[in-house]
Amino acid sequence: MEEKSLLALVEKLNQEHSLRREEWEDLIRYRTPEVSERVFSRARRWARCYYGNKIYVRGLIEISSFCRNNCLYCGIRRGNPNAQRYRLTKEQIWDCAQRGYELGFRTFVLQGGEDPGFSDEQVAQTVAGLRARYPDCAITLSLGERKKEVYALWYEAGANRYLLRHETADPRHYARLHPPELDPVYRQNCLWNLKEIGYQVGTGFMVGSPYQTPENLAEDFLFIEKLQPHMVGIGPFVPHHDTPFAHKPAGTAELTVFLLALLRLQQPNVLLPATTALGTIDPKGREKGVLAGANVIMPNLSPMDVRKKYMLYDNKISTGDESAQNLANLKQRMADIGYEIVVDRGDWIGPQGLASTGRARI
Ligand code: 5AD
Repeated sequence: MEEKSLLALVEKLNQEHSLRREEWEDLIRYRTPEVSERVFSRARRWARCYYGNKIYVRGLIEISSFCRNNCLYCGIRRGNPNAQRYRLTKEQIWDCAQRGYELGFRTFVLQGGEDPGFSDEQVAQTVAGLRARYPDCAITLSLGERKKEVYALWYEAGANRYLLRHETADPRHYARLHPPELDPVYRQNCLWNLKEIGYQVGTGFMVGSPYQTPENLAEDFLFIEKLQPHMVGIGPFVPHHDTPFAHKPAGTAELTVFLLALLRLQQPNVLLPATTALGTIDPKGREKGVLAGANVIMPNLSPMDVRKKYMLYDNKISTGDESAQNLANLKQRMADIGYEIVVDRGDWIGPQGLASTGRARI
């Protein structure tokens, strides 16, 4: 495929925010450094148009490492007897949030495995406690697949947003990453339910997961176009030594940032995190993500003594600049590339945001 035709596809995506299946495949399969540079610069322009040079931060609290599922890639899968299990109490979670609030965080993300020991009611109480203490904050949950009633209960308790990666939109690929009892249609249906209830939703997938092809990724983009999520989280697959995928190669930062930039062109106002996994495989991953159009970073607010136990993959960073406690370093790193971390709920900006903020249309 000629570079000229690929650049034409980039311009089409930049203007129409949509491509046909084969076009996604071609862009991904035949990308060159020059094509990437073009995608990055267009992506940065869109991010700047909606969000200026602002980077939103979310405080990530990893509330439980117990999980009833057995996903082949994940370090906290049920079948890993070496995983260290913990479950935070409500009080511990509220304490974390308090520290986060003092550090300037106005969004808390409660993430955990699908832990039957943390009852639906307990989660609701935890959320209600946060809502009462921090009426000015957004509460995001990332607790896996649940019945619609449970999502509704948590929404009533005060949660505003929910993150649930679809993982891969191709059912055959899904079946190679998950045990047979996990159903991609059920999972996607959870996302539709969450939207219907009124949550701002985030979906996403791993980059370079075992057996992933450009065709699979094209399917992911088509699914995202249909779902119209408020946020899309993607990060490289990183092997975990105690899983069936221990010896599979990791995804690359190069493909991850390319796909981040394509997502920004597809949905110019989407919230796009430069994820922990990207920061794990590349020390400059966060910066590269932001320069490819990402506008969210989620530093770790979990209690120090449990951070090493929420090991989804090997060498997952949780201290250093990854730590919410070291926000100053992160601020400096962002300032070095011309961006500013803001203390804000960091809400999604609808398409009308362009006009209402008076920002110039590019
Ligand atoms: N490498 C990268 N990401 C992973 N996740 C789980 N295991 C891994 C891994 N080995 C991601 C999944 C999940 C999110 C919480 O973490 O996409 O949705």
